[in-house]
Parts: sequence; C-alpha cells; structure tokens
Amino acid sequence: MSKEFDVLVIGGGPGGYVAAIRAAQLGFKTACCESNPYADPKGEPRLGGTCLNVGCIPSKALLHTSHLFEEAGHGFEAQGISVGKPRIDVATMVARKSGIVDQLTGGIKGLFKKNKVTLLNGHGSFVAHAGEGWQVKVGDEVVTARQVIVATGSKARHLPGIAVDNNIVCDNVGALDINAVPKKLAVIGAGVIGLEMGSVWRRLGSEVTVLEALPDFLSLADVDVAREALKVFKKQGLNINLGCTIGDVTVSKKGVSINYTDKDGAAQKLDADRLIVSVGRVPNTDGLNAEAVGLKLNERGMIEIDEHCRTNLPGVWAVGDVVRGPMLAHKAMEEAVMVAEIMAGQSGHCNFDTIPWVIYTSPEIAWVGRTEQQLKRDGIAYRVGKIPFLANGRALGMGDPTGFVKMLADASTDRILGVHIIGANASELISEAVVAMEFGAASEDLARICHAHPTLSEVVHEAALAVDKRSLHF
Ligand code: FAD
Ligand code: NAI
Repeated sequence: MSKEFDVLVIGGGPGGYVAAIRAAQLGFKTACCESNPYADPKGEPRLGGTCLNVGCIPSKALLHTSHLFEEAGHGFEAQGISVGKPRIDVATMVARKSGIVDQLTGGIKGLFKKNKVTLLNGHGSFVAHAGEGWQVKVGDEVVTARQVIVATGSKARHLPGIAVDNNIVCDNVGALDINAVPKKLAVIGAGVIGLEMGSVWRRLGSEVTVLEALPDFLSLADVDVAREALKVFKKQGLNINLGCTIGDVTVSKKGVSINYTDKDGAAQKLDADRLIVSVGRVPNTDGLNAEAVGLKLNERGMIEIDEHCRTNLPGVWAVGDVVRGPMLAHKAMEEAVMVAEIMAGQSGHCNFDTIPWVIYTSPEIAWVGRTEQQLKRDGIAYRVGKIPFLANGRALGMGDPTGFVKMLADASTDRILGVHIIGANASELISEAVVAMEFGAASEDLARICHAHPTLSEVVHEAALAVDKRSLHF
C-alpha cells in the first residue's frame, strides 16, 4: 500500500524545508522529498537546497574570509597593525566553507526529526489526481498526499555555446569550489552573483573582469546606490564593462578566451584562467511531470500561482524560486509559512512590498521598497533624506565610512516608501527599515525614535530627519 500523507513537499530548499516544518507544526502528517545532486557522504538527500549547498551560505563564508584577507593586507596598516603580507590557503578557506554547509544541512535533518517530518529520498514527479489528493512518484515508490507544495527551486541559466564544466567555466556551483586563486578571472553578468563572487576573487588577488550585457549597472537598485557602487567597485579594481555582447567562447585546458563586442561596438577579446557565468537562474520544473496533471507553467517555465501561492490545481501549491518574484531565500521561506498556515485555515500572509534585498559586497548594498526611479515612473510625489556614513563616528572608528542611507517618503503622508543603503553592515541596518515599513511608519516616526550612540543606525535616523530637512549631524 502506498504511503499516505496530509502534505507532501517536493524539494528541501528554504521554501520546501520551511513549508514542511511549519505544516508539521500545524498538525499535518508531512513528508518532504529531495533529490539533490550535491554529494552526501552517506548517500542521503542533502537538505537546504541552493541556499545552503551552493548559494547564500557558502558564498557568504567565502566573502567573509576574503574580506578578512583584504583587511589584513590593506586595512590593518592604517590602524597601526602590522602583520606582514597575508597569504591565503584556498584549500582551507574552501574546507571551512564546506564545513559550515555540512553543519547547516545536517541541522535541517535534525529539525525534521524534531518536528516529525518524514524525509523521502528521491525525485518527486506527479502521477495523477487520486480521490481528494495527488499521487506523486518519489524515487521508486508512489506516495499519496491530500496537498502538495512544489518547492523545486532554480538552477543557473547557461548561455548557448558556453559549456559549463565547473572547472574552467563555472556557474554558481563551481564558482564556490575554485581551488586556487586564478590569475585572471572573467565573469559574464554583473548581477548579484557576479559582484559577490567577483569580489571574493579580486580580494584574494585575481584580476577580475566583468562583462555585462545591459548598458546600466545594477538596474534593479536605486540609481544613486548603483552609481555609488559602480564608482567604489571600479576603485577597488573590479573591471566592469557594461553594454557587452558575448560572442564565441573557446575553452582549453589552460583557460578560456572570450570574444565580445564592447559598448561602442568594437570587437574585443578577453583571456582568463577561469570564467564564471552568472546570468540569472531558471526554475526547476523538468521532471516534475507537470503536464500529466495539467499543472500550469508560464512562458518562462515558472509555476503559475495566485497571490497566495495556489496553482491551478486544487490542493497543489508552489513557493520560492520556482514561482514569480525575487529569487531570495527569505522570500521562499515567507511564502512557505503563508501556504502552511492557509492550509491550516489561518490567514497566512506575505507582504511582497517589504522583502529586503542585500548584496554582500563591500560596501554592502541593501534596500527595501521602491527606488527613486520607480517613484518617478509611477508619478508619486516624494521627499528624500540622504546622509553619508562619512559623518558617522562609528563608521569612522571602524575605518569604513563609504556610502550612505537614502530614505524616500511620500510627499503628502510622509509614509516611508523605500530605504536604500550602501555601506558597512547594510545587511543588518535594513531590518529597521523593513520593520518600519511593515508597521506603515512615517519618516517622522523613525526620526523620533532614540538610536544608540555611536552606531551605524544613527545614519538611518539622520536620513529620516533629513527627509524633513532637519538632520542634526550633517
Ligand atoms: P532551492 O533552494 O533551489 O531548493 C530546491 C530544492 O528542490 C533543491 O534542493 C532541489 O534539489 C530540489 N528539487 C528540485 N526538483 C525536485 C524534484 N522534482 N523532486 C525532489 N526534489 C527536487 N538568496 C538570499 O536570500 N540571500 C543570499 O545571500 C543568496 N545568495 C545566493 C548566492 C548564490 C551563489 C545563489 C546561486 C543563490 C543565492 N540566493 C540568495 C538565492 C537563494 O539560494 C534561493 O532564492 C533559494 O535557495 C530558493 O529556495 P527554494 O527552496 O525555492 O529553492
Ligand atoms: P542576476 O539576475 O542578479 O544578474 C544577472 C546579470 O547578468 C544581469 O545583470 C543581466 O543583465 C546579465 N546578463 C544576462 N544575460 C547576459 C549575457 N548574455 N551577457 C552578459 N550579461 C548578461 O543573476 P545572478 O547573478 O546569476 O543571480 C541569480 C539570482 O540569485 C539573483 O537574481 C538573486 O535572486 C539570487 N542571488 C541572491 C543573492 C543575495 O541575495 N545576496 C546573492 C546571489 C544570488
């Protein structure tokens, strides 16, 4: 007899494992199936998806190590510390990263046990509608579940004619396991991965050249932030070429040669030891057998859903990278909790207007809400408060006064519409803005809240004061 569950979650990434835990907490008999390709010593499925295995967590570990390396090489001296020329042991750096991944992926297995989620080893694919539920083939067995949550995530988009071997030519998987500092590193795509991984290897000594198709840099970010970021990254030594069209790419054992046309239409050639291709991600829907049950996908292969993550099939839901919206781990987790709670008859909710973005470069970039260019485009009248970290005692003490906080508030109601930060610890500072916006705060509300001194958060405070042209320290 086939195994029966109230809820089957397909995929054990941040969307899937969180959906499974929350569903189990709410009393559903829950299973989660995972078929990931990341090697596990015991041959068991590794939970955590892209985020824990080949995304958020390993990339941040490498960013941290490379940041320390750069500080030791270039930041310490100004503070009177001499340590000599630092050397990097890439194998130790990568092993440390992998250890963190092992610890966290194993931790989720523990959470499954604690919450009584059944882990099924295997690829999930729809078989048929059965009674009030769905039959799903997992590995060699068919299980039945009254409700199914698809959380199959995404994989790197590859470019035609550029074969990824994850050695010389890497996507995110290989980029996190490069075993020696390349003398020359080429990156196609100046998006989030290109900038984060480009920063890692530049800090460790590579000559990094990024080739970006669009004429504008970081077009998703606020214009002022994008402009400042481009200036700072170029000064750090990241070669960023915008408006490029990639042509033939040839790979040999020694390296890679990229022909491209630059923004002026001139033919160029870039030789490098390694290439990272980071040109966005595509949803994982192949092998799901969506057609057999009539699960609707959109023209980009994403599962179609309503605002509560319901698909066109009764009792089938989809969350995370496999559906519309930003491909971010915390967005996937929010949707996961919402779906489980709606299933349990609660009023699950996900506010897409307050999902923060963070790019973990140095300086960090973080934002929430709308950009100035979006407000202009939408004809919304706004006021701006913008304060640099240069005027902040804590930032100066840390030796890291680059960047600013920019707050955008509605011109008539003063409600905060967007907050954009480029600077040290922007990833943590943005939370205050997220909380404020969740509570529908006005800039005046933040301006009247006491912020500890000396902290970087005082710059957020000053930006709120600056909306009303009454900043105190700038
Ligand atoms: P995934 O994490 O992709 O998980 C899907 C899982 O489903 C996978 O384990 C897959 O093996 C499994 N699966 C697929 N099909 C099936 C099937 N048919 N049956 C069974 N299992 C299946 N986001 C952030 O918020 N912050 C960051 O700092 C950040 N850094 C990133 C860095 C990199 C290099 C990359 C590549 C991504 C990063 N992201 C970051 C994005 C983040 O990793 C994703 O948004 C997040 O992992 C999406 O979660 P998910 O559960 O939807 O999908
Ligand atoms: P991305 O969408 O951030 O950037 C891709 C870049 O490649 C864009 O600038 C695009 O214009 C460019 N591009 C596309 N085709 C090209 C071509 N043919 N030639 C040259 N350039 C081209 O995608 P990326 O960096 O691959 O990351 C994927 C996703 O993973 C991100 O969008 C994000 O959702 C997630 N991520 C999040 C992180 C974070 O939250 N800190 C870190 C890394 C990834």
